Amino acid sequence: MAADLPKVELHLHLEGAAPPTFIRGLAREKHMDLSGIFGEDGSYKYRDFWDFLKVYEAATDTLKTPEDYRRLTLAVLEESAASGVVYSECFLSPDFCGGRDVGAWKEYLLAIREAADQAERTMGITLRGIVTPIRHFGPDKARQTAICAAETAGDWIVGFGLAGDEKIGEPKDFRWSFDAAREAGLRLTCHAGEWGGPESVHAAIRDLEVERIGHGVRAIEDMALVDQIAEQGIVLEICPGSNIVLGLYTGWRQHPIHQLRERGVKVTISTDDPPFFHTTMAHEYDRLAEAFDWDAGVFHSIARASIDAAFCDGDTRTRIIKTLEAAHA
Ligand code: ADE
Ligand code: ZN
Repeated sequence: MAADLPKVELHLHLEGAAPPTFIRGLAREKHMDLSGIFGEDGSYKYRDFWDFLKVYEAATDTLKTPEDYRRLTLAVLEESAASGVVYSECFLSPDFCGGRDVGAWKEYLLAIREAADQAERTMGITLRGIVTPIRHFGPDKARQTAICAAETAGDWIVGFGLAGDEKIGEPKDFRWSFDAAREAGLRLTCHAGEWGGPESVHAAIRDLEVERIGHGVRAIEDMALVDQIAEQGIVLEICPGSNIVLGLYTGWRQHPIHQLRERGVKVTISTDDPPFFHTTMAHEYDRLAEAFDWDAGVFHSIARASIDAAFCDGDTRTRIIKTLEAAHA
């Protein structure tokens, strides 16, 4: 059932979605030795979240040109489309694409968009970008990233976020960057409540005025905060498989997505960094259906809530809604 349902994914890191075979191929072409980041079965190998961030950055180190990113984007969208994704928003970091230089970033973006246009024509999947500084690179670099974001804000770069190590720094350190992005017309999201507790989610909402939260699941540790999130209509970009593989929860039934939804929170479903977590959107749907007895009606309402929370323009939203409704009729 799952693969056939049209899906909307709002939380996907482009480099984190790179198939290991793709990264191994690039490493071979560039004579780089990356054997240390792969296990015997060929998948990415890491000990915990912090080691995951290192392996992520080592894999990303193979991506050195706009052409590499064009190929990466196509490889990633092939996987997403095979899982039934019809609309996706992915995190892009000028930190990795041109070292935060505006001119270089524009070239990377052109290549990524070329791949996205091709995928839209041939696979029927629509992609939009969210520019994302990396928290553990610090607020100064985030400012440069925000300038890249503001310079390219429009109908394709539609949002601004913050990824990386939530244990480092505080949301308010990034206020300048988020204000600049907002003034450029970008919509805002921030990773919080993954490795930080409820106070981290609270700070992202209060200090950065975001309308979506990446993960946000640890809000469940403070029901007053959960009610605030529900009342304010803040959307959680939940990545259950990622949370389980990284050890936040012991299994699918223990994951709080069902409880958050029952309490009135707008929940959405994403994969985060799918090959790192041995997942796909279809896999997430199957496991959630099994754990919580969710049927096609539940998944349809989540897909509708997801496209309503997407940062794209109205015409794109209307087109995707038609696709979702036609499949559900
Ligand atoms: N970058 C890639 N995946 C991430 C995650 N799950 N949390 C924070 N930063 C990330
Ligand atoms: Zn993420």
